[in-house]
Amino acid sequence: MYRKYSALLFFVIYRKYSAQGKEHQSSYVHHHVTKYGKYSFAAMDATPNPGPKRPFNFFGYLRKTEEDALRQFDKESVDSNVTVWFGHYPTSLIATESGQNLHQIMRNVTAFLCGHLHTLGNLVPHMYTRQKTGLLELELGDWRDARIYRILAIDHDLLSFTDEVLGEWPVVLITNPKHAALSSPYHEPLHRIQASTHIRLLVFTPGTVNNVQVYIDDIYTGKAIHVEGPLYVLPWNSADYQTGLHSIRIVVQDSLFNRKEIEQPFSVDGTKSFLPFWPRFLLMLNIASVLKVIFCCLSLVYILVLTSLRQCSNIKTYFYMTDRWFPIGLLSSCFNQWVYRIWLVSQVGGLFYPLVLFVAYIALGPWFVGELLEGHTGLVFIWGLIVKSSYIPTCVTYLYGVFQLLTFNIPLLMFLGYFLHYCRSSLAASNLFRQIRHIYLPLFALVTVSIYMALNEFPKAYGTRALILGPVRTGSVILALVLFYVAKINAFNLQSHRS
Ligand SMILES: *[C@@H]1O[C@H](CO)[C@@H](O)[C@H](O)[C@H]1NC(C)=O
Ligand SMILES: *[C@@H]1O[C@H](CO)[C@@H](O)[C@H](O)[C@H]1NC(C)=O
Repeated sequence: MYRKYSALLFFVIYRKYSAQGKEHQSSYVHHHVTKYGKYSFAAMDATPNPGPKRPFNFFGYLRKTEEDALRQFDKESVDSNVTVWFGHYPTSLIATESGQNLHQIMRNVTAFLCGHLHTLGNLVPHMYTRQKTGLLELELGDWRDARIYRILAIDHDLLSFTDEVLGEWPVVLITNPKHAALSSPYHEPLHRIQASTHIRLLVFTPGTVNNVQVYIDDIYTGKAIHVEGPLYVLPWNSADYQTGLHSIRIVVQDSLFNRKEIEQPFSVDGTKSFLPFWPRFLLMLNIASVLKVIFCCLSLVYILVLTSLRQCSNIKTYFYMTDRWFPIGLLSSCFNQWVYRIWLVSQVGGLFYPLVLFVAYIALGPWFVGELLEGHTGLVFIWGLIVKSSYIPTCVTYLYGVFQLLTFNIPLLMFLGYFLHYCRSSLAASNLFRQIRHIYLPLFALVTVSIYMALNEFPKAYGTRALILGPVRTGSVILALVLFYVAKINAFNLQSHRS
């Protein structure tokens, strides 16, 4: 019962209890105007609407109306000193209805704060990147399980932040000089660091701060003094660090016997320091396009290989590579063997047509029927969902498509080829033990995996109808058994023909 209404409940909670929910049900902007400048914060709502249940809500989708609203916010922010956008999905997982590049739409934004991937279960603890437009994209770890929160500061229009675990004190955030890997000169002119007269940092602790020591390039530079609130400063001359990368280290001790040490690179002349590879990879790649390309390549190659082999009446004259040199000799004989096996499959119409048509079906036809929204049944295609008579693109289906090809279609083809080859060789009539090892065990493994996927993958999320009316996953199990039977008959025919 609870699960059924949870989505509705969240919506009610958001509208009733959140600060903005009463006024804004979707994207909105807030301009914070002060005597020293204007600061704009815009919320980007890229949740698909209607929103399917997990896992098809993995990708975000920006509708045209939402995009127009964001462009309007952007216009209103042209005279802002700093513009920050925030939303649920990282930009690498958002498709736009208009096909516009999201980074282009956001090219005047200094930072985009997002969640969704969080830290991928702590695999990528600091998922931050600087996009080509200078946009800082900053994933925050999750609050529910890991209790991670962020302090973001804008100091002389330099944006800096720190992600902290609740209850760990003291919290220290250096606001000038800014972290070199996170500076974005297009949005934050360098002269702001060059012209600065002080090193500035924020310190938060439930106790009182005893000591704030500053080291630059491992040389003790001085003790920062308290100005007001969490702000501590130490005079400096930025010209002393004019070229290249330097490092600043802060050591803080508080009255509760806590000690915190943080160190970060900075540069005065704009020398860049780079963020680690994985966060950049995950946040800068257009994951949806990559998945689509992989799926299309795999299925095209599959169909092309089978159809072209079917055209060859005698495989040996076309494909056989001969090379006696080790290891090329070994590789080419292995390659030859597999070409031969797939050729055997392609020569049997009862195997060739179902295999090719099934891959085509995966790309075109409905995968299954299921309860995609609470109380609404819909159809799932690889290119999107159709529910409540609207189309919802969901790129995660391509991931399932790639998975389906790799775990079922390709292994099935290889198994059938292996089986036909095995039957042709003189070993075929050999003892049962051999047959079990070479044929029934692989078949059993293939069918078991397919049954497991058919029972678990979609029916768990979208109801038993996904099992019964599921041509792709449930169909896979049936297809494997039927094609094994067809291959068996044909192998016997070949054998009796030969003898
Ligand atoms: C904000 O921008 C205005 C106009 O460009 C500028 O005069 C002002 O100094 C900026 N504020 C800060 C804190 O730099
Ligand atoms: C970005 O800001 C500049 C002015 O600073 C403005 O001319 C341009 O139109 C803005 N770009 C977008 C996409 O709004």
